[in-house]
Amino acid sequence: MTRWCRQASALGGLRSADLIGLLRPIDFYAGARDETGTTVQPILALLGRDPVCYEWLSHSRIRGTRSNMNAIPTPSELRPVIEADRAHVWHHLTQHKAFERTDPRVFVEGRGLRLWDADGKEYLDGLSGGVWTVNVGYGRASIAEAVRDQLVRMNYFANSAGSVPGARFAERLLEKMPGLDRVYYANSGSEANEKVFKMVRQIAHRHHGGRKHKILFRERDYHGTTLATLAASGQPQRSAQYGPLPTGFVEVPHCLEYRSQYGSVANYGERAARAIEEVILREGPDTIGAICLEPVTAGGGVITPPTGYWEQVQDICRRHRILLHIDEVVCGVGRTGKWFGYQHYGIKPDFVTMAKGVASGYAAISCVATSEAIFDLFKDDPEDPLSYFRDISTFAGCASGPAAALENMRIIEDEKLLANTLAMGERLIGNLRTLQQRHDVIGDVRGIGLFCGAELVRDRATREPVGEKEVQAVIADCSSQGVIIGATNRSIPRFNNTLCFSPALVATAEEIDRITNATDKALTNIFSSKR
Ligand SMILES: Cc1ncc(COP(=O)(O)O)c(C=O)c1O
Repeated sequence: MTRWCRQASALGGLRSADLIGLLRPIDFYAGARDETGTTVQPILALLGRDPVCYEWLSHSRIRGTRSNMNAIPTPSELRPVIEADRAHVWHHLTQHKAFERTDPRVFVEGRGLRLWDADGKEYLDGLSGGVWTVNVGYGRASIAEAVRDQLVRMNYFANSAGSVPGARFAERLLEKMPGLDRVYYANSGSEANEKVFKMVRQIAHRHHGGRKHKILFRERDYHGTTLATLAASGQPQRSAQYGPLPTGFVEVPHCLEYRSQYGSVANYGERAARAIEEVILREGPDTIGAICLEPVTAGGGVITPPTGYWEQVQDICRRHRILLHIDEVVCGVGRTGKWFGYQHYGIKPDFVTMAKGVASGYAAISCVATSEAIFDLFKDDPEDPLSYFRDISTFAGCASGPAAALENMRIIEDEKLLANTLAMGERLIGNLRTLQQRHDVIGDVRGIGLFCGAELVRDRATREPVGEKEVQAVIADCSSQGVIIGATNRSIPRFNNTLCFSPALVATAEEIDRITNATDKALTNIFSSKR
């Protein structure tokens, strides 16, 4: 049933007895849903405009907000929007030729894990906004209100000065990150990573006579879309045709045991870590300042680290005095069931970068967290005009980011979303393993928390990957069933073959099952697997 049909059928009926007592029949607002997103509730617009009732509504099971008191546009009203999008918007990561025959997808509303597009079709989002971002789910009025309140009080001043939410969020964040003491604000994951590269380079110039300037990165990892972060990414299809790229970035081998480069070895984790040390010794330890790694590789294939890997990596960094930069842009702020992915592996990083889940997409914010020892390297010589970190991003001074991030963090704590992520993550990976028994095309299942992947292969014995078109067909089939899942794409030639699952941390058991049931059906439809 489309949204508009449900709205029409819901008019005249309210589920909340409490609310019925408060209603005054002036006119209907038909756009609110309860927290499950399943019911469209008619609420009096006037009731929503009354400050007392508004407050009650905002904190009640049925959430009305000032902004959504406007009626939701109908499909015919949205037609010009789709045409404007087709005519003028250049979408990210998208080949546009198809839009000469089909409509671009435009989403108009979200609640929890549910999304509605401009045709009124409902989707269950198993991908948190396409790229592991909307950790606390759609439609969070309290985040919107926190941002609104902050913006009308004080929206912006360059981050050379402080802000109230900026100071408060830094303090709250660092409580979750023992050993780290300073937060540097930026706007995107790429930018946060590039800030660290600049810090490492400046440390090299000021404290190592220009040596220790190289930065190691790992095959299959991704660190961003700018030229320097592409130079530091192990995904050739992302960087192809964008060269020449900045120099001084050196690749180390991946750690995906399913695709072992060393044959069948007893301790793959230690072997993969040793491969990093081989690169360090080849390049010369005194030329290398830092290594940048994802705790669990995301877009490169959802690669959970093999046993023993991180202990060795940490030890290698310590022995060769190489700073450890952990890219938590995907794993950070709850995705893996801990605040940060690195906290599963006992890692002691020198830098941690984060972005997507920090404010769940309600505002643009990214952070670099680092130690006081690193920070001190930038204030040791106040007389030297070049001694401090001479870097700025205009919008890192926008107070909406930390205001949204504070409320996002409160939600994760109050709703115990880390525990939910662990429980629902168990269910998700368990369901995927059951699918693996039914579908020969699933060669490997990997993941941690609500961050899972299923690698598709033509042949389990040879592990020959399936083609990207078939992987995309699985995604399209799920989409036609009203479920959004993703896949690694245009990253590693021949190996864009891992389905990705990363629902919001508020996911319920029923929603997890719907995601994997749709995948089950899609795999059957595309590969005619035995069931
Ligand atoms: C691990 C990782 N680091 C960095 C980035 C770049 O983040 P952004 O797109 O916010 O620049 C991404 C984006 O997907 C990512 O997956």
